[in-house]
Amino acid sequence: MSLATPAVSDMRDRLIVALDVSNASTAQSLVKRIGEAAGIYKVGLQLFAAEGPGFVRDLVHSGRRVFLDLKLHDIPNTVSHAVKAAVQMGVHMITVHAAGGNAMLRAATDAAGDQLTVLAVTVLTSLTDEDLHEIGVSGRARDQALRMAALAQGTGCKGIVTSPLEAAALRKALGESFTIVTPGVRPAGAERNDQARTATPVEALESGASHIVVGRPITHAADPAQAVNAIIAEMEQARISR
Ligand code: C5P
Repeated sequence: MSLATPAVSDMRDRLIVALDVSNASTAQSLVKRIGEAAGIYKVGLQLFAAEGPGFVRDLVHSGRRVFLDLKLHDIPNTVSHAVKAAVQMGVHMITVHAAGGNAMLRAATDAAGDQLTVLAVTVLTSLTDEDLHEIGVSGRARDQALRMAALAQGTGCKGIVTSPLEAAALRKALGESFTIVTPGVRPAGAERNDQARTATPVEALESGASHIVVGRPITHAADPAQAVNAIIAEMEQARISR
């Protein structure tokens, strides 16, 4: 299943809810409360390590589109087999680290075929320029993100995950149809939690994001479905033509 950029009107399909909780019953109760108000649910390392592929398969079988955010980074053969397992689970999107290199990215996109959208993480937003120097990457994090994004696009990845603050430069470099997913999004007036550099849904979409990831402002809300609907109402204010 490929991830075509949804019509501007389908904001539900551009909102990814991060299910960053530690067990299946909490996640299932959130999904039940939110239902179809959001189009895509993200299962990351925390929930996957706790509950495994059985939980993911159940979520897929319940009719939800699932973004499996495992940020794979290993030798090409291992990543290829992991992506094939994700295809079997029926997930919609998966993440790999662009830093895994050309052969690994090609192994991932070959294994995914047109069944699954492979998104590359360019540079973790938790890394500063100094952190990158320490691991042998010279130059600025932003330049490295552009380099990694070009590599991802050239090896068949359908999109990237990046900070909303870099989305504009990346959108310009990568063209209109590439998927750009941005976390670190906070509805107007919401708490930032531990996200230092945030953007509102409108800012993220107008600067180039095709999809936004939102976690705690939804999962910690007294009424998660209402929080989702409020975010979608905000997204609908964005002036975008993509
Ligand atoms: O709760 P919050 O909205 O901050 O959750 C953001 C989600 O996006 C989390 O699942 C987090 O792991 C993910 N993420 C991020 N920053 C990145 C990459 C992923 O916050 N650079």
